[in-house]
Amino acid sequence: MAKSNISLSGKDILDLESMSIEEYELVMQTAAEMKKIMKRDIKKVPSLRGKSIVNLFYEASTRTRTSFELAGKYLGADVVNITSSGSSVTKGECLRDTILTVQSMACDAIVMRHPIEGAANYAADIADAVIINAGDGAHAHPTQGLLDMFTIREQGRDFKNLKMAIIGDVLYSRVARTNIAAWTKLGADVHVAGPMTLLPHDVEQLGVTVHKRVEEALEGADVVDILRIQLERQKNGLFPTPREYARIFGINEERLKLAKPDVLILHPGPMNRGLEISWDVGYADNALIRKEVENGVAVRMALLFLTLTGGKKIENLD
Ligand code: CP
Repeated sequence: MAKSNISLSGKDILDLESMSIEEYELVMQTAAEMKKIMKRDIKKVPSLRGKSIVNLFYEASTRTRTSFELAGKYLGADVVNITSSGSSVTKGECLRDTILTVQSMACDAIVMRHPIEGAANYAADIADAVIINAGDGAHAHPTQGLLDMFTIREQGRDFKNLKMAIIGDVLYSRVARTNIAAWTKLGADVHVAGPMTLLPHDVEQLGVTVHKRVEEALEGADVVDILRIQLERQKNGLFPTPREYARIFGINEERLKLAKPDVLILHPGPMNRGLEISWDVGYADNALIRKEVENGVAVRMALLFLTLTGGKKIENLD
């Protein structure tokens, strides 16, 4: 791996706006090394031996929580999972006290998912431990953004001038905000489309082109990022029926013919098959959805390694 003067040692990972292109590059290069460890028969190195990581999840998760747990364990750390439903949060403990309590147990990193925007920044202000934002409301999901970046680069694509189409529920999507921030910074041409009720009113200010019709966003696209309809955050009936959403905005094989023939399909998961994505598109050869999950482990290994060791021991990994 090329030597770099950039360091993420001790840094909180809260969003991708506050990370530089050089920091993205460091994570990408380190994740490529971590992926080699994942491919070994014995996928275990001692780089984080003696370090403790707490996964503190106030919202449901399959991919992010499991991959952070495996990432920590592959690197030799002790990893503990706390979900709000099984913790003293149910007895009324506030976020500040929970963070201070966890930190008192000498943990080195807290990986936190929370339904409220800014919760990870709040935790970072309180805690000495490294805070990694595993998703805060509709604000940010930096590790998803980095794993998407890794997945696109792994397919040999350079972001400059790629046409990226982000489709669907942008309003409630932390993935959309995160990818828009990173992809525009990297020089991509980012387009969004979805029901007007699911697009933030000032979304153009993020540097994207907005379309009312999904077909316009798909035309000639190199990458299509299909957003999950966040059914748990839909309080106000922002589209008439799931059937109508699927008919007008759902990504199916017919619509996808408008994109480049070698288009890459992303979806952060979990998928609502038959709603925002058709069954056939979800299983298509160019759908990288399970690759995103695999790369999520490597990227999260890289982030834990870089924040908790400064990356100084990378040469000892083999
Ligand atoms: N993409 C993602 O964050 O998935 P989970 O909610 O399963 O972690």
